[in-house]
Amino acid sequence: MKLIEGTKIFKKSEIEEAAKLLQQGRLVAFPTETVYGLGANALDKAAVKSIFTAKGRPSDNPLIVHIAEQKELKSLVKRKLTEDVRELITNFWPGPLTIVLKKDDKVPAVTTGGLETIAVRMPQHPLALELIKAAQLPIAAPSANLSGKPSPTLFEHVIDDLVGKIDGVLAGGQAGIGVESTVVDLSREKPVLLRPGGVTYEELSEILGEVKIDPTVETKLVNDDQRAISPGMKYKHYSPQAEVILVEGRVEEIPIKIKELISENSDLKVGVMATNEFSDYYKGVTIKEMGSRSNLAEISTNIFKLLREFDAEGVDKIIVEGLPIKGLGLAIMNRLRKSAAYQIIEV
Ligand code: TXA
Ligand code: MG
Repeated sequence: MKLIEGTKIFKKSEIEEAAKLLQQGRLVAFPTETVYGLGANALDKAAVKSIFTAKGRPSDNPLIVHIAEQKELKSLVKRKLTEDVRELITNFWPGPLTIVLKKDDKVPAVTTGGLETIAVRMPQHPLALELIKAAQLPIAAPSANLSGKPSPTLFEHVIDDLVGKIDGVLAGGQAGIGVESTVVDLSREKPVLLRPGGVTYEELSEILGEVKIDPTVETKLVNDDQRAISPGMKYKHYSPQAEVILVEGRVEEIPIKIKELISENSDLKVGVMATNEFSDYYKGVTIKEMGSRSNLAEISTNIFKLLREFDAEGVDKIIVEGLPIKGLGLAIMNRLRKSAAYQIIEV
C-alpha cells in the first residue's frame, strides 16, 4: 500500500484492507464501469456526512447506494418489488442503471438528501463488486470528484480532486462508459428518466413501455421555487475552469460555425473538442478528438477526461461539437450542455 498526502492507495490485492476502512466509517474511492465513486457505509450517518464534506457537495443532493447482489435491494426499500423493477434488474444489473424507489426506514435521511426515496444500483466493475462484497455493506457513492468538476474517469482524476481529503482509493484503470449511470424513478405512478446514462432511454422504454423524461434532462436548471425531483440536476455540473461553448444542430454546419468562433476568439487560447471526422478542419487551436461520430461509446468514455485535459493545458475557451441526441447521445449531450452551463449555439 502506498500513501499520498495521507490517502491510502490500494491495489487489487489489498481490497480487504480497503473494505475494512469502509467498515470503520471511512471514505474509499473505487472504480466503477461508469465513473469512479467515493464510497462510504450508506447506513452510517457520520460516514455519509463526511462524503458531503470531502466533495463540497450540497446536503440536499442525494447519493446512490451501491450493492453487490441483487437480493440486497429488498432490504433497502419499503415495498415489495414490482414486476417492472424485477425486469429491469434482470436485464440491466449489474450495470449502469440506478433505480429510485421508496426507501426503508433504516436508510438515514443524510444518505437520501432528506427524500423518502432511495436510489440503488449494482455496478458491473469487478473491483467495485469485490469491494462492496468484502465490506458486506451497502455503499453510498457519488462520483469521486469535487462538486461541480467533471466526473472522474481515471484514477489520476480522483487523486487530483480528493487526495488528502479521503482515507483511501482503490486504484483501477479507465472507467469504460465514462458518463454516470442512468437514473430512473419507479417510486411514482409512471416511470421517469431523471438522468440519462449508459442504459439508454430506448432500452428502458422497451421494458417499461412509456417512460417520461424529466424536464431537467433536456432543459436548463429548474427554478429555485420548484423542488427538483432529482436534486442533483439543479446544481452547477461538470464545469472545467475554462468557459465551454457547445455548438449543436445540423452536422454539416457545426464545423463551419466552430471555425467562425475560432477566428472571433483569436485573442484567447481556444480548444476544440472535435469528432475524428472534423478534427483536421480546425487550425491554430488546441484540438482534442473525442472519437468517431459513428461510435458514441468511444465519445462517452472520453468527454470528462478531455475537459480536464483542456484545463491542465490552460485553455481559456473550449468549443465542443454537438452530437445527435439518440441512444447514448442523450447522455453525452446532457453532460455537455451542463458543462457548457447551457451556452449553446444552434446551427
Ligand atoms: O454512475 C454513477 O451513478 C456514479 C457511480 C459512482 O456509481 N455515481 C453517481 O453519483 O453519479 P452522483 O452522486 O454523482 O449522482 C447521483 C444522482 C444525482 O443526480 C442525484 O440527484 C440522483 O442521482 N439521486 C440520488 N438519489 C435520488 C433520489 N432518491 N431521488 C432522485 N434522484 C436521486
Ligand atoms: Mg456526480
